[in-house]
Amino acid sequence: MKLCMIGTGYVGLVSGTCFADIGNQVICVDKDLDKISKLKSGISPIYEPGLDELIKKNYSAKRLFFTSNIKQAINSSDIIFICVGTPTKKGSLKVDLSYVYKCCKEILKFTKKKKILVTKSTVPVGTGDEIEKIIKKKKKLFTVISNPEFLREGEAIRDFRYPDRIVIGSNEKKTFNTMKKLYSPLTNKGAKFFTTSRRGAELIKYASNAFLATKITFINELANLCEKSGVNIEDISLGMGSDNRIGGRFLRAGPAYGGSCFPKDTKGLVFAADKHKVNLSVVKSVIKSNFNRINLLTNRIHKILGSSLKNKKISFLGVTFKPNTDDMRDSTSLKMIPYLSKKGALINYYDPSGEKKEFRKIKNCFFKNNIKNNCYNADLVILLTEWDEFKTIDFKKVIKNKKFKVYDLRNLYNANEMKRNKIQYFSVGRPNIK
Ligand SMILES: NC(=O)c1ccc[n+]([C@@H]2O[C@H](COP(=O)([O-])OP(=O)(O)OC[C@H]3O[C@@H](n4cnc5c(N)ncnc54)[C@H](O)[C@@H]3O)[C@@H](O)[C@H]2O)c1
Repeated sequence: MKLCMIGTGYVGLVSGTCFADIGNQVICVDKDLDKISKLKSGISPIYEPGLDELIKKNYSAKRLFFTSNIKQAINSSDIIFICVGTPTKKGSLKVDLSYVYKCCKEILKFTKKKKILVTKSTVPVGTGDEIEKIIKKKKKLFTVISNPEFLREGEAIRDFRYPDRIVIGSNEKKTFNTMKKLYSPLTNKGAKFFTTSRRGAELIKYASNAFLATKITFINELANLCEKSGVNIEDISLGMGSDNRIGGRFLRAGPAYGGSCFPKDTKGLVFAADKHKVNLSVVKSVIKSNFNRINLLTNRIHKILGSSLKNKKISFLGVTFKPNTDDMRDSTSLKMIPYLSKKGALINYYDPSGEKKEFRKIKNCFFKNNIKNNCYNADLVILLTEWDEFKTIDFKKVIKNKKFKVYDLRNLYNANEMKRNKIQYFSVGRPNIK
């Protein structure tokens, strides 16, 4: 089939490349000229394991194309996927749909023959109806449907190929067949194909993300109780998660949830509910609790290092919101590092996905290019992101300062081993922490 992906970010680029890999002709469009020129020379603008090779393979097989010319891309495609960002509007809970609506206006301008217009971006319930209003001049040329994306950064290619489910929401039943054909290489391997109304599909995506954020927040709050009551949170996660009705995933205590989806989608869901005069009090509490968690973690750092952080050397291992991605959106580090810098701490950080522009203007904050250079002088090492290369650090070899401490926000290390090695070790929701 002939597909067009508008927006070649984490979702558009990965799904476009994977659609090409299962035999479709795919044109990826982006207004960011730098991204397109990188892609044309075979360089992925994002860090996603396995993506570079897959882009090269499909680009040279002439199944995958990149352009900034939306007119050309639309003319030559039957199905158009909108994959642009839907961030939160600054200072509110509202979803900023301006990118979605702007590209709908461009699609309208250039469309001459029948197309299926798909929102893959996460959009609030009812957005498909708003899109229909924008394109009403050429209404007969479009079927507007929803196909929310569930891939996770860092595991995006696998998630595309082996999704738990594919959700298609449409008010016109005949489009289900076209979409079923498009996804048949995945459904043939066992992926569930789930159809519903367009509004239903839009809401499934928000409901899923809000539920996962709730699970994380729940276990994070229980970790606080474990710390006070001398219980190991990992026993609780395992004991609870073994119940099939609950399930063990997303029950690992850690820092606040972050990333490009959970923070904005929980807010977007509350905003949509408020609009319909429905009080989603659980999700509201989740947002508040997650916000407060950053304060809780910084208070803990004061407890570990003493009330004054002036000239204390703090080294971060990982700053992205999860491993195997370079995405910094809403990472806990974006709040923690500026706070610690303001308190006079001297900060180093190392992240395998490279230096971050977000920290360039932060006082006394430096990127180091490997674990040793990062931690050498540290008073406190904070493990924030569980990249594989952090799993087996011999801290005593790496750190010069004999009195260093380790604050493990992912419970990556074995507390007993740390004790045996006489390392002052703090983690999340485990009895060793004071
Ligand atoms: N990142 C994820 O893990 C993930 C997972 C599932 C769903 N989603 C959803 O998918 C959507 C996209 O997310 P993302 O992370 O890929 O965003 P992103 O910011 O990485 O990419 C969006 C891209 O769209 C481009 N763009 C914006 N307006 C454009 C226009 N008019 N024409 C052409 N290009 C345009 C931008 O330049 C950018 O490259 C969001 O709604 C998000 O919530 C994201």
